[in-house]
Amino acid sequence: MASAAAAKIAEVRETTRVERIGAHSHIRGLGLDESLEARHVSQGMVGQVSARRAIGIVLKMVREGRIAGRAVLLAGQPGTGKTAIATALAAALGQDTPFTSMAGSEIYSLEMSKTEALTQAIRKSIGVRIKEESEIIEGEVVEVQIERPATGVGTKVGKLILKTTEMETVYDLGGKMIDSLLKEKVQSGDVITIDKATGKISRLGRSFARARDYDATGQQTRFVQCPEGELQKRKEVVHTVTLHEIDVINSRTHGFLALFSGDTGEIKPEVREQINGKVAEWREEGKAEMIPGVLFIDEVHMLDIECFSFLNRALENEMAPIVIMATNRGITRIRGTNYKSPHGIPLDLLDRMIIVPTAPYDEKELREILSIRCEEEDCQMSDNALTVLTRISKETSLRYGMQLIMTSSLIARKRKAPEVDVEDIKRAYQLFFDEGRSVQFLKEYQQEFMFNEDDAIEMDTT
Ligand SMILES: Nc1ncnc2c1ncn2[C@@H]1O[C@H](COP(=O)(O)OP(=O)(O)O)[C@@H](O)[C@H]1O
Ligand SMILES: [Mg+2]
Repeated sequence: MASAAAAKIAEVRETTRVERIGAHSHIRGLGLDESLEARHVSQGMVGQVSARRAIGIVLKMVREGRIAGRAVLLAGQPGTGKTAIATALAAALGQDTPFTSMAGSEIYSLEMSKTEALTQAIRKSIGVRIKEESEIIEGEVVEVQIERPATGVGTKVGKLILKTTEMETVYDLGGKMIDSLLKEKVQSGDVITIDKATGKISRLGRSFARARDYDATGQQTRFVQCPEGELQKRKEVVHTVTLHEIDVINSRTHGFLALFSGDTGEIKPEVREQINGKVAEWREEGKAEMIPGVLFIDEVHMLDIECFSFLNRALENEMAPIVIMATNRGITRIRGTNYKSPHGIPLDLLDRMIIVPTAPYDEKELREILSIRCEEEDCQMSDNALTVLTRISKETSLRYGMQLIMTSSLIARKRKAPEVDVEDIKRAYQLFFDEGRSVQFLKEYQQEFMFNEDDAIEMDTT
């Protein structure tokens, strides 16, 4: 019996281990202190101090929620942490503030117009906190009686007796209620609430009157007072949804199931207008509150002139979220035109943005980031190997260096070594080319490839 239970637990652990390791999974926040100063190494973030501090101020702006439609541009070379910082901001904002992340190129692959895709992204980034009054029953369980038919099949019947300090009532139970009582393992002495509309049961804790059962119930038990007054109460419940979710639910062609399939298609402007009106009404009645969130557009130079002018206008809207964009381009052509501009962004849009630069890391910072990644990927690495890896990252790129962590760790494992050493890094470096050596290779062997557009290879190395 006990061993069976242990196996169950192992199984559960197994599933949590499956959580995959992504490029930014080591990042848990911006790593700022209370006064929004960036700690040098904190929450998985290293260095890039002034950019992190700047985004910390953006975080504050979002939290205060009063400023709509600002745009921030993170600009810097590849691998300087632009996407990492946006990820950190999302983590710092928490669950309740909407954060939408998209890449500029995404809008070309969706089966909807570019402006519809941007509109949906914008509306996914704005939350509405809706307050609702609901009727609940709250009391201490005196007794639960459940009668099962002796055959084991057929409907169960039961009674639930609840009390407050002033009254006691007997409720007849239907099959569904019985199931949820059993699921919640409700027993006499528990203080529970039942949502009258949905039938949802929540356990608040054990009644103090039962405190002497303490030993039997274990240490995690929370004790609460037996409720006072009436058993039936009105209670305010709050939930947060995004404007996009309201759109989809109210769009007759899709219905709320579309939210799960993600297949929402285009939404009619009339639906959106209606919803804007409704939300404005709720706000006036004090039933709802807007929570402007963040829309992050990575590789923003992939957007074209139509998208940029659409964004420019969307930012004027009172309900606009804060838009953060990232790019690694310098002066380049604006997509869809023959004009060049800084970061490939039209000047009129650029003019309303605040720009946060990110700078390349020094060797110490690279080492720190690589060592955090080693830990994230469960890889033991000797000091010397880390030094070599840092040097390689400095000469090639941080991303390439990160790739070598897993590859060299597999090589080390193959020779049954407890940790990655210099020779494993060397081996991985020889097996896998970085971009610089790959270009070199192409130059040397270009005649042997099937197709070659250009004799003098001119590559886009950004
Ligand atoms: N300051 C940092 N602290 C921790 N990890 C970082 C930092 N900067 C970058 N990284 C990590 O380095 C890798 C490359 O950074 P990334 O954010 O993708 O660069 P960019 O978006 O600027 O091209 C990612 O795995 C990222 O999580
Ligand atoms: Mg990036």
